Amino acid sequence: MAFASKDVTKHNLPTRNYFWPLKRYQDMYQRALTEPKAFWAEQATLLDWDKPWQKVLDWNPPYARWFVGGRLNASTQCVDRHFKSWRKNKVAIYWEGETGATRTLSYADLYHEVNAYAAALKKLGVGKGDRVTVYLPMIPELVLVMLACARIGAIHNVIFAGFSAQAIADRVNDSQSKIIITSTGGYRRGKILQLKEIVDEAVKMTPGVEKVAVVKYTGHDAAFNPEKDVWFADYMDSSCSYVKPESMEATDPLFILYTSGTTGKPKGILHGTGGYLLYAAKTMQWAFNPKEESIWWCTADVGWITGHSYGVYAPLALGLTSVMYEGAPDYPAMDRWWRIIEKYGVNIFYTSPTAIRMFMRNGEEWLANRDLSTLQVLGSVGEAINPEVWEWYCKYVGYENCPIVDTWWQTETGGFMIAPCVGIQSYPLKPGSATLPMPGIDPVVLDPDGNESAPGKTGFIAIRKPWPGMLLDVYGSPELYQQTYWSRFPGYYAAGDYSMKDQDGYWWLLGRADEVIKVSGHRISTAELEHAMVGHAMVAEAAVASKPDDVKGEAIVLFVTMRKDVEPSGELKKELIKHLRTSIGAVATPEEVIFVEKLPKTRSGKIMRRVLKAVASGIGIGDVTTLDDQTSVEEVVQAYEELKAAATKTVR
Ligand code: PRX
Repeated sequence: MAFASKDVTKHNLPTRNYFWPLKRYQDMYQRALTEPKAFWAEQATLLDWDKPWQKVLDWNPPYARWFVGGRLNASTQCVDRHFKSWRKNKVAIYWEGETGATRTLSYADLYHEVNAYAAALKKLGVGKGDRVTVYLPMIPELVLVMLACARIGAIHNVIFAGFSAQAIADRVNDSQSKIIITSTGGYRRGKILQLKEIVDEAVKMTPGVEKVAVVKYTGHDAAFNPEKDVWFADYMDSSCSYVKPESMEATDPLFILYTSGTTGKPKGILHGTGGYLLYAAKTMQWAFNPKEESIWWCTADVGWITGHSYGVYAPLALGLTSVMYEGAPDYPAMDRWWRIIEKYGVNIFYTSPTAIRMFMRNGEEWLANRDLSTLQVLGSVGEAINPEVWEWYCKYVGYENCPIVDTWWQTETGGFMIAPCVGIQSYPLKPGSATLPMPGIDPVVLDPDGNESAPGKTGFIAIRKPWPGMLLDVYGSPELYQQTYWSRFPGYYAAGDYSMKDQDGYWWLLGRADEVIKVSGHRISTAELEHAMVGHAMVAEAAVASKPDDVKGEAIVLFVTMRKDVEPSGELKKELIKHLRTSIGAVATPEEVIFVEKLPKTRSGKIMRRVLKAVASGIGIGDVTTLDDQTSVEEVVQAYEELKAAATKTVR
């Protein structure tokens, strides 16, 4: 909301040879809207189909099924077809480990490795439709395992390697995975991440897991339990193996990726094969316009949707060359990323506002001695990029010579929804706006009653028509799918964000409208945090709010009431923080813990979230007359004053 009233300067960035005429975007957008089936059928020629589809779209709200009857395999799209072309010796991935180790994989290497990994998975007993949990650091094996799963029709369930044992166990149990693929460890800021140890803890809570296949990466001695553990390498055949790719229905699931929503438990977002892959690849072309020779670097961890779609599937489907980096951006020093851009001659760089804010805070001197002149296009994702950060990114990273592609989308959408298309449109960018919708995307701003809002008015963003990258379902919970996305505004996909469309038709994404917090661009639900917190024996009640943070965007503020006879103390605070970190992971670390006697509640017992937020953020309660529960203004003000007083007195 902060940007809505800001008078933003218009940018006319140099066009180089990136932009196509605006008219081309408008024509394409119009056609996608009026003749979606013909439009998407034309786009779908980007992929090689084993069997053509019979129906472009089967729209049976709220379920959309794209390219029904069509058959293809995602690993063939990403690997085989390039291997069988002149691209076989083209570099697919330049990998750099945190320690400085490097690996270069051509499309031929990828082909051989993916086949070998697929053969190993089969030997391990994995078959079509099985869920495979993957808990790996950012090493090439992560990509190889994903593609190997795709090759044999197994559904990968990648878990970000920063999540805790409990978080892994929840996701493994929900997805009913019988196998977990992990590594001995990984490197982060010079230390070894004990991934195998974390998996060992998780496995104590996952009765359905039969095997843990371990990739040897870090050299240290990781515990090995012969009952369940196997070395992945023992299942790999050194002689050349070929595994015939499963010809999958376009509508068959490709992967599950868990994300936080408004409930206490993360939801398994299920994505399909044909529609998802096409949408990821097409949107990458439209938004970033990569050239055959471009070097692409998406810094997101593959454990998040950005890494799935634009770190793995889209660039490989397009036969591009990507950079993949394992470690921390500031290790061993604040210029690590800039050195990587320089070293590999990166042309298109896609990262998050949180990362840019961190660099901004540490000063541009870290960029001064680096040559970033190969950069042509810059991207941003995960949260709104504030205009000051946009300007800094543009000036110090892009030398005021690169368009900034601010991409708004979600785990559920599979690919970009609103973003500038350097590939197809030429119009001024506005810092802080994700600009216009992608072809085929029909967003609207709705008021709380579901009526369309006028330009300039803030409301809820909803999408009117299905698109090929749309999630298939919530794994194992069609009710949750229906309720989360389709019940708030019947007939529309409700994204859960506030938004505003300005007079020029530009979209401004203004943050979550639900109880989801974005910490460093990572999605965490307050319910999930609260649920984990009350799991601590000494906690009676917990409530979570966020406050603005200069680097992370939002930071977690935890309000807790303790059980009888438990005295708040500095030690207890540390203990509660540790509890959240072990229940969820480091992303769940609260910035502040505030001990209170009671939480602010309405007469019907609902937590007054606005009061929490007002105290957490320090911005005050503001206009309380619009509160829509039955609580009187006096009660809210009183609750606010009480909570504020408790917060100032809390144990530090
Ligand atoms: O609130 C929006 C924010 O991130 C949410 C989706 O989070 P996740 O599923 O983790 O996916 C992140 C990567 C696609 C959205 O509901 N968000 C994402 N990109 C932007 C954004 N908010 C503003 N501007 C963006 N460019």
